[in-house]
Amino acid sequence: MSHMVDLVIFGGTGDLSTRKLLPALFQLHRDKLADRLHRIIATGRAAIDTDAFREQACSNLQEFLPDGDWDEAVWQTFRERLFFARVDAGRAEDYQALAGLLDEGEAPGRLYYLATLPSLYGGICHQLSDAGVVNQHSSVVLEKPLGHDLASCREINAQVSEVFEEEATFRIDHYLGKETVQNLIAVRFGNPLFSPQWRNTFIDNVQITVAEDIGVEGRGGYYAKIGALRDMVQNHVLQVLSIVAMEPPASLRPADIRDEKMKVLRALEPMTPASAKENTVRGRYDAGAVNGTAVKGFLEEAEYQDEDSTETYVALKATINNWRWAGVPFYLRTGKRLSRRYSEIVIEYKKLPFSLFANDPNELINKLVIRLQPEETISLHTLNKKPGLTRGLRLQPVELNLTDESQNKNEKYDAYERLLLDAINGDQTLFMRRDEVETAWRWTDSIIAAWEENGTAIKHYNSGTMGPNAATALIAVDGRSWYE
Ligand code: BG6
Repeated sequence: MSHMVDLVIFGGTGDLSTRKLLPALFQLHRDKLADRLHRIIATGRAAIDTDAFREQACSNLQEFLPDGDWDEAVWQTFRERLFFARVDAGRAEDYQALAGLLDEGEAPGRLYYLATLPSLYGGICHQLSDAGVVNQHSSVVLEKPLGHDLASCREINAQVSEVFEEEATFRIDHYLGKETVQNLIAVRFGNPLFSPQWRNTFIDNVQITVAEDIGVEGRGGYYAKIGALRDMVQNHVLQVLSIVAMEPPASLRPADIRDEKMKVLRALEPMTPASAKENTVRGRYDAGAVNGTAVKGFLEEAEYQDEDSTETYVALKATINNWRWAGVPFYLRTGKRLSRRYSEIVIEYKKLPFSLFANDPNELINKLVIRLQPEETISLHTLNKKPGLTRGLRLQPVELNLTDESQNKNEKYDAYERLLLDAINGDQTLFMRRDEVETAWRWTDSIIAAWEENGTAIKHYNSGTMGPNAATALIAVDGRSWYE
């Protein structure tokens, strides 16, 4: 598997390509990591040619690369790898032209990255096949969301599978490419200290928070029809959950890891209209202030005024029915326009059966706090003696930092860099298998159906807060609180 690969991006002038893919490719090129990558062919309906595309890419990269990463000399060689092909997803002639361009490059491998509307994925794959540009060295990357429910997801998967084998299909969830998500596998399965305790006998509850301070950012057309449950929980949050909860895999091979994640998804208890009432909260942001700036509410934005059935926040209590996790609630929450951007997994250990110490042990519980962003840190919250001469032993919290501080910036890669590289190299470990995505949809659909049936109201929250009060109540009724 050492042939050269041409990468073809459908939706090549779109938001994802501009903000994430091209900056990631630039960085891989700069660090000489993408040695198998030959050309990058962006496609789209825009009436532009390669020169104009290169010009656009040049200014976009300067805007979207992390500060200090733009490099004129690197650009001069990177630009030579960029091409543009005008392709309207439904026009067979355009695929013929693309075939001509691919032939000129003589790279045997082809990686098709689909970042368009998911409803076009099946059609694009068939057009590629009809144009004769799918061979045994071809594979496809599918961006999320894969449909909007189980039925539409199945349909997309079925259409794509008529052209690409499962081994050549890479369903991306960029949360799996985040460094700390992979570090979680190392921490869980590399440390005899944690492994035996990673279960209901020792763990009281698990919390997963994916908080964003941004709003819908002009993606209203898509987001307004989708909402937070489908946009974030069905994929990112459930993928993180499945890595937190999975059994030790037989090996680190993709099939073994994905088998174990799959078992977790299958063990999630579906919601019913009755259980959804107690265990879910939907919210939508009103006006407020985020990071000191006044912002409008979702329904005050001109484009979203009619979208009063869209939630921008979800909090859930999920139950995993298996031996390891019976009795351990998984509290999940995600939302837009919250007070700050951070993603975190918190493992709260059980309280001691009896405390010898005078100060309240209720708030002082061992926790493992795994921060995915903006920082990538893992810390273990422990307790030791409060120093001094005061009478009686008192406890104080002490955080053990498990983060490798020596890691310098150059060793830190964006999730898309890692995932693009893995897809180019054919490594499926960090991509979702067909049955995983479909099982995640089955569970998500149970919530959507429950909401429809019981008419779950959307609660309001002010922008710049941590969500509706009902989310605090969801966990408080169990005598617990969100870790802030
Ligand atoms: C995307 C969602 O998948 O993830 C967006 O569609 C969200 O709504 C984004 O903003 C968050 O990604 P990250 O890496 O910034 O946490």
